Amino acid sequence: MAKVLRIDASSRLQESHSRQMADVFQEKWLKANPKDEFTVRDLVKEPIPHIENMTIAGFYTPEDKLDDPMKKATALSDRLIKELISADVILLSTPMYNFSVPSALKAYIDQIVRIGQTFGFEESKGFFGLVEGKKAYIVTACGAVYKGPYEAYNFLAPYLTAVLGLIGISDIDYIDLEGTSLDPAAFEASKKVAMEKIDKITSS
Ligand SMILES: Cc1cc2nc3c(=O)[nH]c(=O)nc-3n(C[C@H](O)[C@H](O)[C@H](O)COP(=O)(O)O)c2cc1C
Repeated sequence: MAKVLRIDASSRLQESHSRQMADVFQEKWLKANPKDEFTVRDLVKEPIPHIENMTIAGFYTPEDKLDDPMKKATALSDRLIKELISADVILLSTPMYNFSVPSALKAYIDQIVRIGQTFGFEESKGFFGLVEGKKAYIVTACGAVYKGPYEAYNFLAPYLTAVLGLIGISDIDYIDLEGTSLDPAAFEASKKVAMEKIDKITSS
């Protein structure tokens, strides 16, 4: 039995393409793996607060030196990291907002990318990830089309690959929906590819 952590980030609770595709993924995954368990972290229904001064102080203070305000300020980060580490598979659905991740997702990332907990640094080897053995599936939805001349404007997937790679999640498959608001033909084509990809993933 695998534990799947599903993270949703679209501000649209209805008619969200990324959420709908993640629903399809979840349904097909559970059909193929009925014993697997999904935990849903909805970053819009339950927004994650931004890190604050005390959170940062707590992040950089050794555990045995944390005072009560620091413990309080880092408690959510502790919980989110525990949830992430206990998952075997991550299913993240996210739109592109202003060429990158929505701020709801960025707030979550700022809570889980944490020195000594999800990544380390040593003079001799540089940065290394501490979140090991995860498989990640990322559903993205963009209003325009970036596979082509505008690729340089797409900071969404490159950013997620970099930041998740930093914490050790580097086995990532993207399921991309493009042209959701600007190019119906590209949208239909990307949707078809996405469905085929999900079928392949859930039948293997
Ligand atoms: C605030 C905001 C910013 C957006 N910025 C971009 C953008 O930079 N590039 C783009 O291609 N689409 C952009 N879009 C369009 C969304 O990426 C597109 O509608 C996508 O389908 C949203 O995901 P969802 O359907 O899961 O809600 C933006 C939409 C919103 C609401």
